[in-house]
Order: sequence, then structure tokens, then C-alpha cells
Amino acid sequence: MFGYQVLNGTNIQIIIHAIHRNPKIFCDVEEFRPERFFPANRFFNQLKIYSEEFRKWSLFNLWLGPLPVVVLYHPDSVEVILNSSKHIEKSYLYDFLHPWLGTGLLTSTGDKWRSRRKMITPTFHFAILNDFLEVMNEQGSILVKKLEKHVDKEPFDVFLDITLCALDIICETAMGKNVGAQKNKNSDYVSAIYRMSDLIQQRQKSPWLWPDLLYMLFKEGREHKRNLKILHNFTDRVIAEKAAELENTKQKKHDNDGNCEESVSKKRKAFLDMLLSTTDDEGNKLSYRDIREEVDTFMFEGHDTTAAAMNWVLYLLGHNPEVQKKVHKELDEVFDNTERPVTTDDLKQLRYLECVVKEALRLFPSVPMFGRTLREDCCISGYQIPKGTTVLVLTYALHRDPEIFPDPEEFRPERFFSENSKGRHPYAYVPFSAGPRNCIGQRFAQMEEKTLLALILRRFWVESCQKPEELRMAGELILRPNNGIWIKLKRRPNAGSE
Ligand code: HEM
Repeated sequence: MFGYQVLNGTNIQIIIHAIHRNPKIFCDVEEFRPERFFPANRFFNQLKIYSEEFRKWSLFNLWLGPLPVVVLYHPDSVEVILNSSKHIEKSYLYDFLHPWLGTGLLTSTGDKWRSRRKMITPTFHFAILNDFLEVMNEQGSILVKKLEKHVDKEPFDVFLDITLCALDIICETAMGKNVGAQKNKNSDYVSAIYRMSDLIQQRQKSPWLWPDLLYMLFKEGREHKRNLKILHNFTDRVIAEKAAELENTKQKKHDNDGNCEESVSKKRKAFLDMLLSTTDDEGNKLSYRDIREEVDTFMFEGHDTTAAAMNWVLYLLGHNPEVQKKVHKELDEVFDNTERPVTTDDLKQLRYLECVVKEALRLFPSVPMFGRTLREDCCISGYQIPKGTTVLVLTYALHRDPEIFPDPEEFRPERFFSENSKGRHPYAYVPFSAGPRNCIGQRFAQMEEKTLLALILRRFWVESCQKPEELRMAGELILRPNNGIWIKLKRRPNAGSE
């Protein structure tokens, strides 16, 4: 708990009053609910409380163990950091990702990051993403079949079903490997990915687990080591197989004097294929270790984020039948009650669904906060913040600024109609971050979300079965409902079934 902070001569007097009974922060304030203070929620809840209470200050400072953290949730302050090409170094908390992801695109800094970003950006080109739509349709239709068995039945938790589908999509698009997570959630690799993200989040908020030597004395540290081995072995094996395949293809092409070119070019490409052939400005290729960093980064950043986002959309639609009806109307116009695969043209036409996806990411940004370490002194909203400070952009609170989004807790996709977004501060809404270190997977994510949601909502009517306070929301690396997302499904009239 902090009460008084000095930032380079500027005194910020903070008086904490009545916070504990603030109904905006604690639902049903008079009820005795110990789960409000489960460790998973504690840090995030504090951030929510303080940003709400100190909204007019535009920033505040708190301590995470020995680490001073300045928290930003006002568009002008956020702009100073995100718009800068100097403040691109990730905070200390990202160091716990290094054993798994090394210093790939998400975690690297300086020249290494610049060169990688330049090399990898073309792999997210529209034309390449369009090939991935096929994977999204295939995996999405498996998901829809799995959901069929819940029609007109008891409420069920849809969170894992959607996550496994997103995991299958990223495995196939990143590595060209079908791990069949939707059919076998207990595979070693799938379980290791899952456990690893949890272990990292737990370590980030437990300062006593920070030193490597100490960590290894805890069972979590040993579990981390075991999972790391599974994850790296898997990626290493896939990279080696792909590299051999590529070599083989080159050889065949050479032997056949180019005759097999056509069949090769028709094969579906994965990010990994592109990483194996990309070069930097000097013509150097990435080493296997470099490639592993990037593939692991896509695996980590590319499925939990989209899975959480899609789950939140279903939760919100299930509570807002009027909005859901509008989504259905649009889907019926575009698909005319057919069950064909979703095309890029369809995606362009699904404008209302796009606003729904955006509004859900406003209320429940999959990445609710992200941090930087300042490498030089910096002036934010009139305060001098010294070099070395960790700065946390709290999108969760930024997106709830009532001056910019009136009635911020209300789910209103119309906020994102072009006429309503005109003139909005460009840093008021940044679910994918912004500036030079924004999310490279944004278009991939939007494509996946819209495709899967179209496949699901074309066929089903969704009802949400949880009150907001029953979600037990945990804001860590990813904003997740700890209790899952419980929904009921009904088949829509005229919807086909396979
Ligand atoms: C709804 C889905 C997603 C959301 C909300 C999201 C959000 C973000 C945010 C906020 C950042 C900045 C993090 C920071 O500065 O620490 C980021 C970075 C990144 N994201 Fe995403 N992301 C999503 C999906 C994806 C997908 C699908 C991929 C890959 C296929 C991806 C790959 C990355 C990478 C590689 C970075 C680091 C970029 C860099 O620093 O140059 N993301 N994402």
C-alpha cells in the first residue's frame, strides 16, 4: 500500500478514502467474499482500484516488491511512451519469458529488435494471411461440431474449447504442424504450453521467485524446467523437419530442372517456412536458435490472446441479446443461411461484427497491461520520471475513460462506427498497443476472431449464465475469467447442421 510518492521533486499527495466500499470496484460491497483477494486477482485489483480513484491524476506510482512502477491510463501519457522510438525496452517482468522465448520479437530490444521486426513484418502480409483463412475455417468447423453437442443442454464452460481451437490454428500457421489439440487436449506439448504460461505469470507477481537459484528450490522452478524441455524439443524437431523438407524440395527442383515448382508452390506455407528463407539487410539468414525464438513467440502470443478475446465476445453477446440479433442479421445477409467456408470478401462485409470485436477488446483487452523500462529520463504529463523506472500501460483502465467512452461499462459496438470514432484521441484505444512496438499479429488476430465468431454465431444463439462478479477476472499476461465462460447454446432457426 502506498500513500505518498515523490517523483523528481514533484509531490503527489494521495489520500485513499472509501476505496474499500467503492461499488465500481467491488460488486456487492456489503457481501463477505474472500475470493476477491485470491492472489491471482490482488495485483490487478489494486491497479483497477487506484486507476479508478486517481483518474484525474493521469498516472500513479506503486511498488511491486523492490520495483517502482509508474502506471499510465490517460491517452496523453500513454502516447508519450508508445509513440517514442526510444522507449522500446520491455520491462524487467518480461525477463521471465526469456528462458522460453529467448529474445525474440516480443522480448528483444535495440538493434536486434529493429532488424527482426524488419525481417518478420513481410510474413504478416495480407496475401499470406489469406492462405491462413483455410486453416481457420477447417479448425473452426471442428469447433462448431464440438459445440453441437451442447445445443439445448445445460450451461457449459466454452473457454477451453475455444482455446484449443486457437491453439490448433497457431500451431498449423506458425509451424505447419497439426497438433490436434481439439481432439487430444492431453498431448505433452499442449499441456506444456498451458502450464508454462501459468508458471510465468505466477513468477512475475511473486518477487521471492525472481532469483533463478531460489526459483529452482521451489517445485514451480523444477516444473518450469521440465516444461521448457518439452517445448524446446518440440520446436527444435519441427524446425529440423521443415529445414530438411525445404532442402529436399530444393534438391528435387534442381534435379527436375524446375518441373516440380508448381506442386511446391501450391503447398500451404507456415510462418516457419518464411522464417527459414528470410534474410537481413546483409543477406544473413536466421539461425535455428533465432527461428526457435520467433516460432515460440508466435506460439505464446498468438493463441491465448485471440482465445480470450473470442470468449469475451461470446460472454458479452450472451448478455446483450439486442446486439446479438444485429450480428445475426448481418451474418444472414452475408451468408444467406448457407454453411460455406468464410472468405476474405465475407470478412470485409462483416462490419458490425468488427465493431463488436473492437468493443469487446475495449472492455476486456486480452493484454490488459504491458510494461517498458525507461532508458532515459522522461517527462509524462508534467512529471519527471527517472531513467530505469518501469512504466506500465494499463489498457484496461485507459479504455474506461468516461470522457472518451461515456458509460464506459456499457457494451456498445456503435462506439466504433466510423462516424462515432472520428476525432477520438489516437491513443485512447490501444488493445494491440500502438507505435513502433505494436502487435505484429493484429490482422491475423482480427481475421481469426471474425472467422470463428462467424462460424459459431451463424449456427447458434448464445446465452450467458454468469454475472460479472462470478467471472473472477484475473488480469495477468492475459485477461482471463478464472471461472471460465459459462454459456447455453440454442440452434438458430434455419441454421444448417452437418
Ligand atoms: C486479440 C489478440 C491479440 C492482442 C490483443 C494482442 C496484443 C498485443 C500487445 C498489446 C502487444 C504489445 C505488447 C508489449 O508491448 O509488451 C503485442 C505484441 C506482439 N504480438 Fe500481439 N496480440 C494479439 C494477437 C497476436 C497474434 C495472433 C500474434 C501472432 C500470430 C501476435 C504476436 C505479437 C508479437 C510477435 C508481438 C511483439 C511485437 C514487437 O514487439 O515488435 N499477437 N500484442
